[in-house]
Amino acid sequence: MKSPIEILEEKISAAMAAAAGQRNYPAMVTPATDAKFGDYQSNGIMALARELKTNPRKLAENVVKRLNVTDICESPEIAGPGFINLKLKADFVANSLLALYRDPENRLAIDKTTVPKTIVVDFSGPNIAKQMHVGHLRSTIIGDSICRMLEFLGHKVIRQNHIGDWGLQMGMVVYSIETNIDKYFYKPGERFVDQDLNRVPDLDTLERYYKEISVLAEHDADIADAVHDCTVRLQRGGSFAKSYWEHAQKITLEACYDLYRLLNVNLNEKHTRGESFYKNMLVEVVSDLQKQGLAEKSDDAVCIFPEGFKNKDGQLLPLIIQKSDGAYLYATTDLAAIRYRVGKLKVDRIIYVTDARQKLHFEMLFAVAKMAGWVKDQTELIHVTFGSVLGDNGKPLKTRTGENVKLKELLDEAVERAKQTVEEKNPELSPDKKEKIAKTVGIGAVKYADFSNNRTSDYIFSFDKMLAMEGNTAPYMQYAYARIKSIERRGQLDIEKELADVAKLNLTETAELDLAKYLIRYGRAINAAIADYRPNYLTSYLYELAQKFSVFYTNCPVLTAKPNKRPTRLLLCDLTAKTIKHGLSELLGIEVVEQM
Ligand code: ARG
Repeated sequence: MKSPIEILEEKISAAMAAAAGQRNYPAMVTPATDAKFGDYQSNGIMALARELKTNPRKLAENVVKRLNVTDICESPEIAGPGFINLKLKADFVANSLLALYRDPENRLAIDKTTVPKTIVVDFSGPNIAKQMHVGHLRSTIIGDSICRMLEFLGHKVIRQNHIGDWGLQMGMVVYSIETNIDKYFYKPGERFVDQDLNRVPDLDTLERYYKEISVLAEHDADIADAVHDCTVRLQRGGSFAKSYWEHAQKITLEACYDLYRLLNVNLNEKHTRGESFYKNMLVEVVSDLQKQGLAEKSDDAVCIFPEGFKNKDGQLLPLIIQKSDGAYLYATTDLAAIRYRVGKLKVDRIIYVTDARQKLHFEMLFAVAKMAGWVKDQTELIHVTFGSVLGDNGKPLKTRTGENVKLKELLDEAVERAKQTVEEKNPELSPDKKEKIAKTVGIGAVKYADFSNNRTSDYIFSFDKMLAMEGNTAPYMQYAYARIKSIERRGQLDIEKELADVAKLNLTETAELDLAKYLIRYGRAINAAIADYRPNYLTSYLYELAQKFSVFYTNCPVLTAKPNKRPTRLLLCDLTAKTIKHGLSELLGIEVVEQM
């Protein structure tokens, strides 16, 4: 179904074309900045008047004369230098709302895109032999919500988890296992037996080994050589090195998949395309760039100097794709990945979700991929960046000993804290229910707090704030949903049955109309959120919706309403609940509970 904004945009643009006697001009219809001016405003007249060198107010009058919106709006009003203010008719709102409710496709009358694209979303990307830490939270959940929104709008989404599982770091992993091997009753050079879990290091241990070696390798040339040797052995396919690497990969990924399940993020084996996936394509990437005359040797390394990237002294910056010892780098793999995604997966768009510190890497990468002709003119390469998660001290969140905070521990604590609240508030619930609510609220709170912050800013991580029942938080939203469900329970309603024969809604009270008008804006909120890849547009919408519902519910009794009002109010309740649930669980992957 077309939204009011789309209908108005079309009609006003047509009237503008008629008035100005020329091609279509955008009417630029947006929600009104202040409700006292109406519901929407059209801002397009001023630009057209400037172009025609005519008086904007006069032009606005001419446009309004040619505008027929009687079935949608009260009569349009011209304001200021030439805005057109528009107020929806209650009847129009009522009919739209009913259509939303009766949408046979159960999509709240939100259309799929007419131009579906194939889109890779590259997100999460943890590294082998390390546990996911809080730094991976944002990429993982923002990436997942972008996928969910794109999918809902009808695009073909290919989720790609670009795991850090290749290169020098893997040499360190292999070497660190090899040097500790006797602790596991193995002889040096003996392969791991996967089944015997008592005889292999777990992820915690691997991470510790890895850290020890990476510190040592920095200061000790012999160790650095040994690590290098391991890297080469691994890259040549040496079987012992490979068995350790496979083990590290297996247990790291298992832990990641557990976390994705806990976070309700749709990422699994079939989305895993680690750096190693591209290992056999690297030679060709480098040789192709050399053949094209784009890559050159500089200090024995193979580099590309894309135009426009300079350091402070005005010298061109290199993107290094092969080191003097022959090793390939992060950028080489990323180039191979772009080539593969465009060439083999035939994508129209690639969206990378990483923190803002990788901005330069991606800018240079995109520039090189374009120079090499590996992407088509219309291929969109997009870097969706985000800021850091900070502690109370305003610095990146760390443990007391200065380590990265493990994501698992953070989530466990959120659930634990939510459990305490449930115990206090609802001691009578069964242990199962308490458990379920605590998990839903705890995990939801962490995710929602992240989504509701503008992604490009840093934010301070605060359990107290994110678990608060008041304010723009998951518990507030989840409670808003549960409250509506409790109305239905109390009334022992079969809403569908009660509303089955309703042909016309009865919207008269301001609070009813306000809520209704906001409900029909949901599609626009989703489109705005995806246009800029900003989930906070969606959380803001949901929060405002919950607030409007609150005003409505305080002013308009539902269960005790008169028969001429009751169906309308029930429908408002039901659609609010459906919209909140859809936004939270379908688009953000935050679960709701019927009772809290
Ligand atoms: N593993 C990388 C990191 O931890 C993230 C990977 C992002 N994706 C990519 N194609 N480079 O920073």
